[in-house]
Amino acid sequence: MNVVTIGVGYVGLNTAVALAYIGHTVRGVDVDARKIDLLKQRKAPISEAGLDNLLTQQMDLRFTTSLAEVIQEADIIFIAVGTPSLPNGHANLAYVESAANDIGKLLQPSHDVTIVVKSTVPVGINSQIERQIRESISARGGNTSYLHFASNPEFLREGTALMDTFYPDRFVIGTEDDRAFEMLHNLFMPIIDQTFEQPPFIDVPNPRPKTQCLRTNQISAEMIKYASNVFLALKISYANEIAGLAEKLGANMADISAGMGMDRRIAPYFLQSGLGWGGSCFPKDSLALLSISRDYDYKMPIVQAALDVNNAQKDRLVQKILTRLHILPGRRIAVYGLSFKPNTDDVRNSPSVEIAQELVRRGAVVTVHDPEGLANARVIYKDDGFIFCDTPDEAAKNADALVIATNWACYKTLDWSAIAKTMRQPLVFDARNMLRGMRFDNVEIIGL
Ligand code: UGA
Repeated sequence: MNVVTIGVGYVGLNTAVALAYIGHTVRGVDVDARKIDLLKQRKAPISEAGLDNLLTQQMDLRFTTSLAEVIQEADIIFIAVGTPSLPNGHANLAYVESAANDIGKLLQPSHDVTIVVKSTVPVGINSQIERQIRESISARGGNTSYLHFASNPEFLREGTALMDTFYPDRFVIGTEDDRAFEMLHNLFMPIIDQTFEQPPFIDVPNPRPKTQCLRTNQISAEMIKYASNVFLALKISYANEIAGLAEKLGANMADISAGMGMDRRIAPYFLQSGLGWGGSCFPKDSLALLSISRDYDYKMPIVQAALDVNNAQKDRLVQKILTRLHILPGRRIAVYGLSFKPNTDDVRNSPSVEIAQELVRRGAVVTVHDPEGLANARVIYKDDGFIFCDTPDEAAKNADALVIATNWACYKTLDWSAIAKTMRQPLVFDARNMLRGMRFDNVEIIGL
């Protein structure tokens, strides 16, 4: 099939590459000329496991900044542009609306096409987009019965985006239009049936999921996305709340998470306590869900509590640091990890960066290290007063304390006793609890 994805960010790009790999003809469109230039040279503009390799495979995959160049060939168009938060918590729909506007203007009036929203949009926006495009086509004398619409929310995670795209737990196809469902079902068939040739450089999850396909209406599909993300966020917040009480009682949170996770109904995932959740999705989607609920005069105290607990985790860490260092102005503190989670170079909306910023605000001299996110951080946070360090050793030297803010695996295998010797005080705040249970000579490790 001929596929066009509008937006080649995390969602659009990984979807485009995976669809091309399983044999479709795919064109990726983006307004960001820098990104498109890189992709034309088969270079990935984001750091994702396996993406560089996959981009160099023989596939019918091309990139352009011009939707007009490619739209007339499309059997399926994905809208996969960003929906960042507005100051009031609502999702900013400007990019989605602009994509819908372009489609409405450029599509030939007799074009038979399925238009699919992959961007995370507030409930009801799929039908708004559908109306907008239908009106535009009929205003140009077109036959709108050729137009088919569906919502197809995305569940991939940054860092494992391709693994999640090839081996998903589920496809949700939100449409009451049989033709749209059939088109999407056929498009994804090799992934739904898991019959594609495995790309050798993408890890297969263990256990390997049995991919399921669920057909719903558009509104339910939109809600499934928000309800899933916010549920995962509140699961982590719950683990963090329990961890706070466990600390007071002298219980071991790692054991508590393990014990809870052995119950199949709870499952062992997203129970890791620590500095809390960040990234481009959980904070944005929980705020958006609250904004939607307010619009409908409905209260969601559980969602609000998940956000409150998440914010409180950062305060808990700062209080722990204050209790030990007392005075922060002039103190040198090393922060290990800036990305919002390991295995990504994405340093936006990162709890780790927020901690580093808070320490600077309180007068500390803050050295920062990240194995993959430094290049991005040097650009985005150039005015934040951080001292960027290329190695963990450099960041730790002469520090009064060190904070492990992102649980990069490489931090676990460091020679902590050697690092501590170079610090003014061998004090490590393990805000991701990744060294829990480990002992090192002359190092004091304080968990969160
Ligand atoms: C999340 C969802 O997991 C995806 O299913 C969804 O498609 C995506 O949002 C999206 O809406 O696009 P992502 O933001 O990439 O994916 O990251 P996660 O792996 O879910 O982690 C989110 C945050 O939770 C990170 O800051 C991570 O450090 C934190 N976390 C995760 C914990 O604090 N504890 C845990 O046990 C797990």
